[in-house]
Amino acid sequence: MQGDENNVITIDGPAASGKSSVSSRISDKIGYLHVNSGLMYRAFTWSVLRSGIDLDNLDSVVGHLNSISINCGQSDGISTLTIDGLDPGIELKASEINENVSLIAAIEEVRTVLVSKQRGYLKIANIVMEGRDIGSVVFPETPYKFYIDASTEVRAKRRMAEGESDDLEKRDKIDTFRKISPLLIPDDACVIDTSEMDLEQVVLKVLNELKARGLATV
Ligand code: C5P
Repeated sequence: MQGDENNVITIDGPAASGKSSVSSRISDKIGYLHVNSGLMYRAFTWSVLRSGIDLDNLDSVVGHLNSISINCGQSDGISTLTIDGLDPGIELKASEINENVSLIAAIEEVRTVLVSKQRGYLKIANIVMEGRDIGSVVFPETPYKFYIDASTEVRAKRRMAEGESDDLEKRDKIDTFRKISPLLIPDDACVIDTSEMDLEQVVLKVLNELKARGLATV
């Protein structure tokens, strides 16, 4: 795939649709590296906020991209990311990040830098990458594309159960209507509505589809 030997499985979908749980289970089952691209946008947002940069000042936000060092890698099958040597960890789930991440992710320069980092993971491993534009923009040539969805009510319930404050509809709206790399269903993606399914059912469906699409390791 993509000009080298590693494979990539892409899992796109709206916020709280279950992408992370599915991606994590699939990557465990077939020994691929799980990369959550949303965490990369969250990490950059965290760094911008931490530096006290005015989010409305596009030049400052873009300038910050050039003043930091983002490092991506893997450790024991888990993808790693540090910004200036720091791993923000659980802080990436804070409500302040939820409120601002989609605005930062809509900036073209930010996407250019992070997409290049995302593509870099494929050079080091077979990967399952989740996000919004992974099948449409980051790895459009892979045959292993999924779009995971669920009703607004189910997604809101899931997020509440996680104890997070997160305006899903607002984020989805910004992600869907932005000019650059909006959230969409790639033409050749397998679409799974998980509203009425449990995790095991979704995992089984993904594995069966991967087999049908010829992925040898499944
Ligand atoms: O996946 P998660 O909900 O953690 O992503 C946080 C935000 O990062 C999304 O709402 C979206 O704005 C942005 N994102 C993106 N492209 C991706 C992954 C995430 O724009 N590939």
